[in-house]
Parts: sequence; structure tokens; C-alpha cells
Amino acid sequence: MPNNAKLTIGDKSYDFPIVKSTVGNDGIDISKLRAETSYITLDDGFANTGSCKSKITYIDGEKGKLWYRGIPIEVLAENSTFTETAYLIIYGELPTRKQMSAFSQKVLRNAGLHEAMMHFFDGSFPFSAHPMSILSSLLNSLGCYYPHMATNRREQDLEYFDDAAAMLLSKVRTIAAMAYRMKNGLPLIYPKRDLGYSQNFLHMMFTEPYHEYYPHDDITKALDLIFILHADHEQNCSTSTVRMVASSGANLFASVSAGVCALWGPLHGGANQRVLQMLQEIHDSGDDGSKFIEMAKSGKARMMGFGHRVYKTYDPRAVILRKAAERVLKIVKLKDPLMDIAMRLEERARNDSYFIERNLYPNVDFYSGIILKAIGMPIDMFTVIFAIGRMPGWIAHWKEVAEQEKGKISRPRQIYVGYDKRDYVKMRHREGEFPSDYEADESRTYTHDSGLIEK
Ligand code: CMC
Repeated sequence: MPNNAKLTIGDKSYDFPIVKSTVGNDGIDISKLRAETSYITLDDGFANTGSCKSKITYIDGEKGKLWYRGIPIEVLAENSTFTETAYLIIYGELPTRKQMSAFSQKVLRNAGLHEAMMHFFDGSFPFSAHPMSILSSLLNSLGCYYPHMATNRREQDLEYFDDAAAMLLSKVRTIAAMAYRMKNGLPLIYPKRDLGYSQNFLHMMFTEPYHEYYPHDDITKALDLIFILHADHEQNCSTSTVRMVASSGANLFASVSAGVCALWGPLHGGANQRVLQMLQEIHDSGDDGSKFIEMAKSGKARMMGFGHRVYKTYDPRAVILRKAAERVLKIVKLKDPLMDIAMRLEERARNDSYFIERNLYPNVDFYSGIILKAIGMPIDMFTVIFAIGRMPGWIAHWKEVAEQEKGKISRPRQIYVGYDKRDYVKMRHREGEFPSDYEADESRTYTHDSGLIEK
């Protein structure tokens, strides 16, 4: 294996070191590129750019593999819980029994909200507010209530990291449930000490004053599974956002709040909500999916829940969720026509050259919506569920950035293609401010406000 990569520009050659990975793509270290060549790289959407070295998650997009800290997602889906997976992702290893018990207790103790925060649910937000908007605001506001954990001084923020991490994992779920209750004019339900992570969330969502909600074990497991499968996904848009905000020295609460905003977009976490809307529209229009597929192929529609930047085969999370969706529909004894449409779309796409040539397969969002709908989750909470699940990943990535000894602020460059000085002078000519025979001169500078020329 070579140790260097050679780049030739004109008649000059430059060597750049190759950075080895444990497994997967090696990289070419171009940190000296600009200094040595005066060129920069351009990579739209960062499809070929490694932004960091990371030890958290590995994806093989060609083979459909996903590992958290070296453990395949299928193994965790079968044997772990969300809380244990969160510990693994954040701290790098599976916990011992003692560590697990201490961690679970800490998460549980943090489930309630600061009483002053409850006023946010007392008319501060309109009923029409999207819960992702509420979630992002309130996660950031945790820094107001616990300022000693959000100082933007690395040493102190790291000292309180364990508390802040447990707090976020726990409170994200309480804030989410309370946002839903407030929006629907329902009384707020507090968490209970004797319930597990996902069960507590379902309790806060669906319990009524005179009707305690006890979910079927398999429903709780299905939600826990959704959380596990969303827990991290290396340098995706929201995680890269968290890392970028963290790189400036910002605290954990501020960084994950930015992650929520990035996740909200329909090309990222917002896709799960759009999948269900798409399936419903196909159903309501009486289409069996064929017309929609043709629209997607002609670019008139996008098949939500299909395609992925990294996976060029089945998203392993979609494989697990498809089976889980079938199981959940059986438990709730629901024959959902949207599941039939989803399976038909998948079948058609698998045999259609447009999807085959572009490697478009179902992604994690394709079947998660069917499960969430079956367990009674309102559609505008789907992306919120994704955010709850992604929290361990965001926390772990913040920690990885914060613990770097010589971490640099993320600050990409650009290739400027806007006006240059000559255009500016031309504009001023049109205004009659410069004599018409005036030629822009590289040795002069122009002040913006007055158009004055300085030698
Ligand atoms: N439906 C129809 N055509 C598609 C789709 C789709 N869902 N996705 C990609 N294509 C086509 C696209 O039009 C392009 O065709 P052409 O080469 O003829 O121009 C080609 O496939 C490559 O697409 P791209 O947009 O360049 O690919 P990307 O890697 O930039 O985008 C993606 C990845 C996930 C944004 C995109 O596949 C998409 O918009 N999917 C639907 C939204 C979605 O489900 N998002 C959730 C992703 S998984 C959860 C997460 O991690 O965020």
C-alpha cells in the first residue's frame, strides 16, 4: 500500500501523505495543499471529503454494514437496549453491570424538567409550533438553567460532561413528550421512576389523568429498536453540524440544539414524516404506486425514504425495520394499506433500471414511519423520535471534538465566483459616478460606500 499520493498540476508534482483507516477508505491528507500549491479542493456536498478521524461509527455503504464502536447494528438490535447502546456510543465500550446500573439511574434521575422550564409549555409557544422547533429551543435553553455545564470553557464543560450527557439523553424525551401534550391541549404528564427509557416516553406521551397507558412489551421494544437504529450514523448532516458548532468551543447543549435544526430538513431526518405523507397521498389518489414511481423517475417527485449518500445497497437499518414493521402491525392487529403500498414501491423499485442504476434502496426512514403510525405516534413527532434516537451520537461526537488536544475550528474555504473589482467599477459607471473612460486598475483600492479610489 502506498504511503503517499502524488498530485500533478501543470509540470509540477506534489506528494501528500496517506492516512490509514482501521477499516474502510484510507484518506489523503491535504492539509498542506493550499500552502504548497495555492489550490484548494472543491467537493460539493463533501461526498469525498473526510472532515475528521473518528472512533465512533463505521459504515460500509457498498456492503450495507453499520457498526457502533465495532459492534454490528444487527447484534445490538437483537441484544441491546437503547440506554446500553447510548453508553456504548458515548463511552466507547459496553458497560459492566455496575456501570450500566449507575448510568441508568443517572438518566432516570434527570427525567424531570426544571420547574421554571415548565412555563414554556404554558402559552409561550403557539399550538401550531412544530415540535422540532420547540425541541431545539428548549435543548439550547438547558444552558440557561444549568449554566455551570455550559460555560464554553472546554475544561469545565468536560468536567460536567457526564451530568450534561445524562441530562440530555433523559430530558430530550421529556421535552418531546411535553411539546406534544402542550400542542394538543393535553395535561402534562411527568415521568415515572419505575419505567424504562422507552416505556417512560410512551407513558408521558399517552397517559391520561384517568387512564394510565401501559404499552405492550413488543411496542416498547419496537420504539427502543427505532432509537437504537438511529443512535449514530457517523458524519451525517446533523452530526457534522454538531461537530462544527463544537469546534468553535460551544457547549454541549448549544451544539446538539444546532443538530436538531439540521436534522429537521426533509432530505435528512425530516424524511420519515415525508414518507408517510407520500404513502398517504399515493393511497388517497387511488394510485397503486406505478404513477408515483414514474413521477420520481422523471424528477417530478422524490421517492422519500429511498436513496442514501453512503449506502449503495440496502440500508441495514431498513432491513431490520421492515421486519419490525410487519411484527408491530400484527401486534396492533392493523392491516395498514400504507404498508402494502410501501412494499409494492420497494418491489417495483428493485426491478426498475432507474433505481438499480442509481443504487436507490429503502433507507432507515422508509419503514420507521409505518411502525410509528401503528403505535399511535402523530406524524409531526416522527422527526422528533429520530432526534431522541440520535442524541447519543451527537453527544459522543461533541465529546470527541472537545477532547482533541489540538482541535481546530471547522472553517472550510470557498471558490469565489461573485463580482470582482472590475464589475464594481462597471456598476459605478452605470451610475455615472466614474468617468466613462475609467479602467479598473488592480493597484487601486475602492471603498464601498463612497466609490472613492485610493492609490
Ligand atoms: N427518488 C428519486 N430519485 C432519487 C432519489 C429519490 N429518493 N434519491 C436520489 N435520486 C436520484 C437523483 O435524482 C440523482 O439522479 P441523476 O443522477 O439522474 O441526477 C441520483 O439519484 C443521485 O442522487 P443525489 O441527490 O445526487 O444523491 P445524494 O447522495 O446527494 O442524496 C439523499 C442522498 C438521501 C439526499 C437522496 O437520495 C434523497 O433525497 N432521498 C430522499 C430523502 C430521504 O429519504 N432522506 C433520508 C436519508 S436517510 C436518513 C438520514 O440519515 O438522514
